[in-house]
This record gives sequence, C-alpha cells and structure tokens, in this order.
Amino acid sequence: MPRLTVNDRALDFALDPQTPLLFALRDAANLTGTKYGCGVGDCGACTVLVDGQALRSCLVTLAEAEGRRVTTIEGLSRGGGHPVQAALVQEQAIQCGFCTPGIVAAAAALLARNAAPSDAEIGAAITNLCRCGVYPRLGAAIRKAGAAMRSGAVLPAPGDSPAPAL
Ligand code: FES
Ligand code: FES
Repeated sequence: MPRLTVNDRALDFALDPQTPLLFALRDAANLTGTKYGCGVGDCGACTVLVDGQALRSCLVTLAEAEGRRVTTIEGLSRGGGHPVQAALVQEQAIQCGFCTPGIVAAAAALLARNAAPSDAEIGAAITNLCRCGVYPRLGAAIRKAGAAMRSGAVLPAPGDSPAPAL
C-alpha cells in the first residue's frame, strides 16, 4: 500500500501502485484542486509539487511517489497567501481558473529556486496551457511574486480585502 506525505499528512493509498498520482489525489484523497486536463502530460493542469519539484501528476504513479512529499494547491499556503497566489489575483491573471492550481505549483517551484527569473526562464518553467490566454498577465504576476519573496514583503491574500460597504 503506497504511503506518501500529502500536504504534511502521511496517507496510505489502497490503490494499485500504478495508479496515476493525479487520480489518487483527486478521487481517493478528495484533493480536487488539482485538475485533470489532458491526462498525457501536455497541459500542466495536474501539476503538483513532489519534494518541491513541479511534476505533472498524471504522469507520476503512486509507486514513483511513494515516500515522497507531495504538496497540492490545498497545502501550499493558508488562505491563498502564497506570494504567487496573491500576485495572480492582484494582476488579474486568472479567468476561469482551471489552469491556475497547476500554474501556481509550477511558479512556486520556479521562484523557490530562482526568485528573480528572466522572461525566458519563466517561459521555460511555465509550460502550462491556459485556454483563457492569461499569459501576458501571468508573467507580470510571477515577477511581482518574485519581488515580494526577495524583499520579504507580504502581498495581501485574496481573503484579506475588506468587504465593500453596502
Ligand atoms: Fe496532466 Fe494535462 S492532465 S498534463
Ligand atoms: Fe482559464 Fe487558464 S484561466 S484555463
């Protein structure tokens, strides 16, 4: 029975070890923030962090993930407070949001190893597909998140905004 650490919790999966990690997360662990797009490694909607590395979970089996630390969008931060999440909201780099969890994972992994990526480095790291075309705003958001991480500034999380007066 494969055991992995998911969002800081040890989980045993009573599934075939060849089950894609994506299905284990969504269907067994009920972590549905990670999305199923293509199932063949092209779209990036299923990207999660595995030992801090952004991987496409449709291509990773439970056996390959055994003993490793998996972080999904649900475990990345409390209340959407990761700088990438906050910057995506500030830069309005989200439309339907289907691609967003995977993009957040890929961007978080990039900025963890390089908080000042060039445009080329962003392009190389964020190969996720977005059918809504948020790409121009995405670059600005990633640069903003990187700047915040370098300076230690805390970007307001989505839930931090005061409710509008009625
Ligand atoms: Fe995994 Fe598209 S669902 S890359
Ligand atoms: Fe809709 Fe990217 S925001 S797919």
